[in-house]
Amino acid sequence: MCGIVGYIGNAPASPILLEALKKLEYRGYDSSGLALLDDDNLVVYKSRGYIAELEARLPETTATMGVAHTRWATHGEPSDLNAHPHFSYDDRLALIHNGIIDNYLTLREELTAEGVVFKSETDTEVLSHLVAKLYDGDLTKAVRAALKRVEGSYAIAVIHCDSPDEIVVSRHESPLILGLGEGENYIASDVPALLKFTRRVVYLRDGDMAVVRRDGVRVFDYEGRRYNHKVETITWSEEAAEKGGYKHFMLKEIFEQPRAVQDSLLPRLTESPLEGMDLRWRIGQVSIVACGTSYHAGLTGKYIIEQLTAIPVMLHHASEFRYASPVQNVGGLLSSRPLVILISQSGETADTLAAARTARQQGCQTVGICNVAGSSLTRIVDGLLLTHAGPEIGVAASKTFTTQMLALYLLAVHLAHIMGRLAPPQLHQWEQELRRIPALIRATLDRHEEIKALAHMFTKAHSIFFIGRNLHYPLALEGALKLKEISYLHAEGYPAGELKHGPLALLSPETPVVAIAIPDHTYSKLISNVQEVSARRAPVLVVAQEQDHDAKKYADAVIRVPESESVLAPFPVSVALQLLAYYVADALDCEIDKPRNLAKSVTVE
Ligand code: M6R
Repeated sequence: MCGIVGYIGNAPASPILLEALKKLEYRGYDSSGLALLDDDNLVVYKSRGYIAELEARLPETTATMGVAHTRWATHGEPSDLNAHPHFSYDDRLALIHNGIIDNYLTLREELTAEGVVFKSETDTEVLSHLVAKLYDGDLTKAVRAALKRVEGSYAIAVIHCDSPDEIVVSRHESPLILGLGEGENYIASDVPALLKFTRRVVYLRDGDMAVVRRDGVRVFDYEGRRYNHKVETITWSEEAAEKGGYKHFMLKEIFEQPRAVQDSLLPRLTESPLEGMDLRWRIGQVSIVACGTSYHAGLTGKYIIEQLTAIPVMLHHASEFRYASPVQNVGGLLSSRPLVILISQSGETADTLAAARTARQQGCQTVGICNVAGSSLTRIVDGLLLTHAGPEIGVAASKTFTTQMLALYLLAVHLAHIMGRLAPPQLHQWEQELRRIPALIRATLDRHEEIKALAHMFTKAHSIFFIGRNLHYPLALEGALKLKEISYLHAEGYPAGELKHGPLALLSPETPVVAIAIPDHTYSKLISNVQEVSARRAPVLVVAQEQDHDAKKYADAVIRVPESESVLAPFPVSVALQLLAYYVADALDCEIDKPRNLAKSVTVE
């Protein structure tokens, strides 16, 4: 969601804060702001719109400490007044916040009754007044006391004129990390903000509070007990979070997929791909829980795990899992402990984290599939399967989707192996097959100009349907999500056989259909569905393998993907659909890396 950064050191703070903040703009970009503290002088600058607009308003200053924020609106429209930081009523304190204060209305009424005048519509502003009210010279104490009154999720950073050498921060269900330097220290809600400045970081845990000074940091748990924090080293390179000559991060990330998949393939199939967990116990039921693109990867996982292991797999949207009963979630009381697989690129999605906690409370074993080492999800699951896609800055997921699918394939093969369902020669064969994926993706990327040339089929469409069957149905969902989120065209993914149960009514020459036609046992049925579409005069674009010479007979246009076993086709097909979405959005001149209304990681429910 929103992005937080902070700096305290001896260099001018505002250029550092701006540079760090720009690296987080993908987390929220409707407004931004910055607070600087120079001796007793606390100043706040805010602006609606992109960070560049804030930058244009900033004068040169000598302040060597400050905090800054990029916002994704939850309470109150994007505006200068609603942008963070928020001053306290006495103008002595400034505060930035990610998350949602659930009981802000109660607190707001209470403070209003005491004479506080609110300037914004945000939930956050209550916190700045509350901390100011409780401040008696000890900022840490005031922040702790204020947070005891708060229900909801937060990562906050506070500075106060009368405590001029410290930034006090805390987190609960919203990420926050400390970056350690020499004579200077940083805070950030996400790793990319820090890559230019330091590799040494401290991941705060839920409930932690930290006091960040020039000469060091002190970390306290929820009860206020100081503890010896662990310093970790970030391995991501700074270049990995740059565009590297591509027009957009998304395009770069699409083209990075051969490398991302290669790196994620490193765990060998004979060994467990999982850290921290032995799967050699009887598994009676598997549930997969995720949101958005990660959910679509989970759906491919369902097909592949069921196919290889014959274990039934239930799939859940994380936002539903939390509020469902155990019977709905994991099938009720089973003879063996259910396994719940939680998939999240960021590891910070509020719904997925809540689902992970629910699964644990319900006695399930949990496995996380995640791209961000050290993120919240990685800390609460029993077993971990890290994808190695590297930082993904474009809001639309691309390389993290293919690496999540790969992680699920690795897991499925491993499960089948330990269950005795894959003999060593078959295991070896799987290993050989999976190693072909980077080349399959490369061959698809090589056709990017052909895919770009088809973008015109969609730019004037009223609506677009993506259809597929079996293992290719999740790709239809993901293809539609990709297109709608970056091009703002209406798109829906459907199991191909479902069109005739309603959506056919919408088809017309202005409603193109993208059909994923990969040879498998459902192929002939898919072709019948395509013919039903053509009969309604809807233009058809088919994604077909190179040797499928019939494809052009029943399609208006064809995207070719390399030949492979159908089980591997999700990789080249999803890359082709990512390219298609990208080129359509680019032809429409959309803000591809920062689609309107969206944010990279959704840390509120
Ligand atoms: O970080 P997560 O994988 O938990 O994020 C879940 C969704 O918000 C995310 O996959 C979203 O749907 C994609 N960015 C869309 O491209």
